[in-house]
Amino acid sequence: MCGIVGHLGPQNSVDVVIEGLKRLEYRGYDSAGVSFISSDNELMVYKKKGEIANLISELDGKDIKARSSIGHTRWATHGGVNDQNAHPHAAPERGLSMVHNGIIENANELRDFLSSKGHKFESETDSECFLRLMLFHLDEGLDIKDAVIQSFKKIKGHSAFVILYKETDEIYAIKNGAPLVCGINDINSEAFVSSDPYALAGMANKIYFPENEVLCHLSPSNQNILNFYELNGEKSKRYTAKAQNMDHDPAAKGDYEHYMLKEIFEQPELIRSLTQFYFKGEGKDSLLKALSLPRKNVHITACGTAFYAGMVIKDFIEKENRIPCKLEIASEFRYRNPVLSNDELALFISQSGETADTLAAQQLCKEHGVKTLSIVNTEGSTLYRDCDANLLIRAGIEIGVASTKAFTQQALTGYLLSQVIKHNGMTDEVRNLLSGKLSLLAERIDNLLAREDEIKAIAKSIYQYNGYFFTGRGIYFPIALEGALKLKEIAYVHAEGYAAGELKHGPIALIDDQKVNVALVGPELFEKTVSNIQEIKARDGIIVSIGPKNNKELDEISDYYFGVELEGLEDLSPICLNIVNQLLSYHIAKLLGTDIDKPRNLAKSVTVE
Ligand code: F6R
Repeated sequence: MCGIVGHLGPQNSVDVVIEGLKRLEYRGYDSAGVSFISSDNELMVYKKKGEIANLISELDGKDIKARSSIGHTRWATHGGVNDQNAHPHAAPERGLSMVHNGIIENANELRDFLSSKGHKFESETDSECFLRLMLFHLDEGLDIKDAVIQSFKKIKGHSAFVILYKETDEIYAIKNGAPLVCGINDINSEAFVSSDPYALAGMANKIYFPENEVLCHLSPSNQNILNFYELNGEKSKRYTAKAQNMDHDPAAKGDYEHYMLKEIFEQPELIRSLTQFYFKGEGKDSLLKALSLPRKNVHITACGTAFYAGMVIKDFIEKENRIPCKLEIASEFRYRNPVLSNDELALFISQSGETADTLAAQQLCKEHGVKTLSIVNTEGSTLYRDCDANLLIRAGIEIGVASTKAFTQQALTGYLLSQVIKHNGMTDEVRNLLSGKLSLLAERIDNLLAREDEIKAIAKSIYQYNGYFFTGRGIYFPIALEGALKLKEIAYVHAEGYAAGELKHGPIALIDDQKVNVALVGPELFEKTVSNIQEIKARDGIIVSIGPKNNKELDEISDYYFGVELEGLEDLSPICLNIVNQLLSYHIAKLLGTDIDKPRNLAKSVTVE
């Protein structure tokens, strides 16, 4: 969603903030803005609709030197995408500006109240209410710290706010249920705040994760440049601190045209390092901790791609262990009053660890006394900090908005969990068996990636059709859903994922010679799936089959057949087939000329409901 960066220190703050915003642009890219205190002590604001490049051109040629600055990339919720609604919102004459991530649920009520007191709004956003509330409290005679606290107390909903105040040249930040981190560089006497530690990589050497309702105060005039307070004004200890050891390589995209492609190609190496982590590294203990949790039933909850990984994991756990797993979309689960008991396990899957609905579902389970386990990428994220145990997927930073490598790592981490449950731990024999299997998987994916041109050729033949049905059965059904999601989100074409046997119960009415069926076929339910392909073929649908290598039957029935070596990897075959889906979607999107890494209307981490 929105990205936030703030900085205070001796180097030019605007440069620091812009660098941070560039790194966060993948999270939201409707508009961008920056506010700072200039060398002649004016509070300045620049904000522009569209990508950060627009803001940078606006700043170009201006001689800007600032000691403190805040910035924002927006993913619009309230109000259209235009300069006016972009953040920061500011009252320059009062020396005050602020940025916001989240939703103010009582915005209408606050707007009415503040308007009745004579405050004039300049945007359609909910966020501006916070600015006007602070001004209201400053007018009452409160100092800035109390004005922030009193305004924050009036806000309903999950939000993070960062405020710049000229009078005292300081920055305040506070959150409830939205991501916020602070950082310091104690060598350069600099302090930072952001919605994501990634923005601060290579700049801060220590990162702080404040809890909800902790006021963070960045000030050059205090002995410590960064301080934390409770809402009653007392010093707070409710934060965790960690050394920042995340590297940031500005040329991280390397020779790849898009982050998505780079991330697809990273997968074999990541599988190898996941194996190391869980069999030889720190991961061993986390698997054992997960094993110690109750699990009469498992509730699996997630959103989007992580949900489809959850479907694969459900299959792994149930098949291997006969433990019933219930799988639910987090946004449904949280409002459904689900039946929960404390001998069950709640498993949450998330790349970011900040998805609002997944977090709300986790809180609900916690309130019911259910033990919570995450399969998560971002160490230190809210989900990571709130669960009883965590299994890291070790995918590294995923910048491409369309999730690829995270899906593979989530599914494999779930696979390891199911194996540890099955063997009630991990003997050397099991470890050898599994690491052999994962290394074979990595090798097979290397081979698949080397055949990118074949997939590109299929994409070229099918990219102009007017609808796509991804189908699969059993463990390949989630891969069909994930394939369709990937294609629609980056190529903006209509794609549906269906259980192959379900098509004849309605959707087959849509099949004609302009529709493509991407059939995911593995060893499980092979004949049944081939029958379903026949049904589509008989109605003139274009068949692309992705299935076992050297298969004459598939070759004959398909317009385009991509064979995959699956022998010895039957249970992990969905992961192999999905790699082909990822490349197929990527190349279709490329041929259609979309913005692959930043698809329209989307943001990387969905921190609003
Ligand atoms: C699709 C995609 C989304 C996310 C979903 C959950 O490519 O990336 O569907 O999977 O928003 O996000 P996380 O995993 O961060 O909870």
